[in-house]
Amino acid sequence: MNSKPENTCIVIFGASGDLTQRKLMPAFYHLFANGLMPDEFAILGVSRSALDDLAFRDKILAALSSQEEDEPAKRDSFCERLHYQPLNTADVADYAELKTRLDVLCPQSATGGNTLYYLATPPSLYGIIPGCLAAHGLNVESPGWKRLVVEKPFGYSLASAESLDSEIHRHFQEHQLYRIDHYLGKETVQNLLVFRFSNGMFEPLWNRNFIDYVEITGAEFLGVEGRGGYYDGAGAVRDMLQNHLLQVLAMVAMEPPAAINADAMRDEAAKVLQSLQPLTEAHLKHNLVLGQYTASTVRGQVLRGYREENGVADDSRTETYVGLKLFIDNWRWQGTPFYVRTGKRLPTRVTEVVIHFKKTPHPVFGNTALANKLIIRIQPDEGIVISFGLKRPGAGFEAKEVTMDFRYEELGETNMLTAYERLLHDSIKGDATLFARSDAVKACWKYVQPILEYQQNPQALFGYACGTWGPKEADELLQRDERKWRFPCRNLTNTEYCEL
Ligand code: NDP
Ligand code: BG6
Repeated sequence: MNSKPENTCIVIFGASGDLTQRKLMPAFYHLFANGLMPDEFAILGVSRSALDDLAFRDKILAALSSQEEDEPAKRDSFCERLHYQPLNTADVADYAELKTRLDVLCPQSATGGNTLYYLATPPSLYGIIPGCLAAHGLNVESPGWKRLVVEKPFGYSLASAESLDSEIHRHFQEHQLYRIDHYLGKETVQNLLVFRFSNGMFEPLWNRNFIDYVEITGAEFLGVEGRGGYYDGAGAVRDMLQNHLLQVLAMVAMEPPAAINADAMRDEAAKVLQSLQPLTEAHLKHNLVLGQYTASTVRGQVLRGYREENGVADDSRTETYVGLKLFIDNWRWQGTPFYVRTGKRLPTRVTEVVIHFKKTPHPVFGNTALANKLIIRIQPDEGIVISFGLKRPGAGFEAKEVTMDFRYEELGETNMLTAYERLLHDSIKGDATLFARSDAVKACWKYVQPILEYQQNPQALFGYACGTWGPKEADELLQRDERKWRFPCRNLTNTEYCEL
């Protein structure tokens, strides 16, 4: 993470939008402030809004003003590198102006022709922009490289993802593509790999012989906020399961890659996703729970139900919760259940993986046999907890469960990169390791497609009150197997006094 990337020209499509203000510009600025941007770079914002360079810089300055570092000189210096070009991205003729502007702004003498295009527009334009760039030769990798970063969602279904992929591949090759899944940019998700593959003591146990089951939770306290319009057409399966949670699952379940590079790592991730046991209607009937939040009062706050949210249809059947028991058909994981859940308006925001090891074969100490747990907390209160049995002090030999924990904050690293910072930096450097590859994205869509079809079934949706852990049917999913979900608190090691 130390070397500076090559000089680059960055073009952001969708520059007047929310993502650019809230995520991209703060991330570019932090990289700049930490000396991680190229020596020579320019960022050209593109959208239809009638702005000029100065108005665009003011807009971005306002977005940056909430940043912790109060270093006006650095901010001004960053903003001097920002430019703006009004353009209708859907109109191929407009790209002639873009080409002229780039020739002036980013002369090849300064950038060597290197250009990063970032698609942060409505997804309907993701298939159109590459063709328009190509029509003006703006995709040609000589001189310099040309890369295309594509935001989520990458498709809406298997068919639309495949069609988007072939549309983009007509003009950009796979090595030029960087599909964003910001979960892969999270430090703690990457740590799953380091934890697994740099410690000799866990990997031998990491399989069906020693692991009883695995839980993956992606819980949010927030509802759909201002994004009801988008979310109502998406739902939790497309918004969280198809991408973020399946990518986390791939990190938990993959084989050790031969090296940490884009090909080796993505080969292994894709293999896991392609080995997911196909979901049949019969399986879904017993092992899938879809829910939608209903109004409730949580910690004194009155929270409206999903159907009352702005932009959501009164009779919406979009799921805001999904719980699924799934299997991976390969040698390592055959028969080991993975229970995955995600939802909005749950009691707290927490993403974690819990590895439940098998119990000791015989409870020699009288009480029930113990099962070790490994909890890998992705956010918040990032860290790892191991639970194990210990002698309860006093007479006899009764075993008691205790824990050992590590927290990221103990490392004292103040300079951790956010997910977007890491991914933007990698895309400028040309490292695609943490970006979703075409085959993996298709495997994910192929896997969830039966759920999208199953949702047409009118019985498939259960209500749950805001601030609860989803529909009771989701608890039954595990109870049937004589198991239960862990109920995580915001604080990693707190198991007794959670938020509610
Ligand atoms: P916004 O609606 O806030 O912004 C959309 C942007 O696209 C605006 O700059 C808009 O500008 C521009 N745009 C729309 N149509 C055209 C057009 N024909 N020609 C040129 N520009 C156009 O959306 P977001 O910023 O929230 O999201 C952008 C993308 O990022 C979406 O695909 C979303 O799914 C994805 N995303 C967003 C996240 C977020 O937190 N916001 C998180 C993860 C992904 P103008 O109207 O001026 O043309
Ligand atoms: C986004 C989803 O991709 O991820 C949002 O569109 C969700 O609905 C968000 O809230 C969760 O990301 P994080 O990083 O807050 O866990």
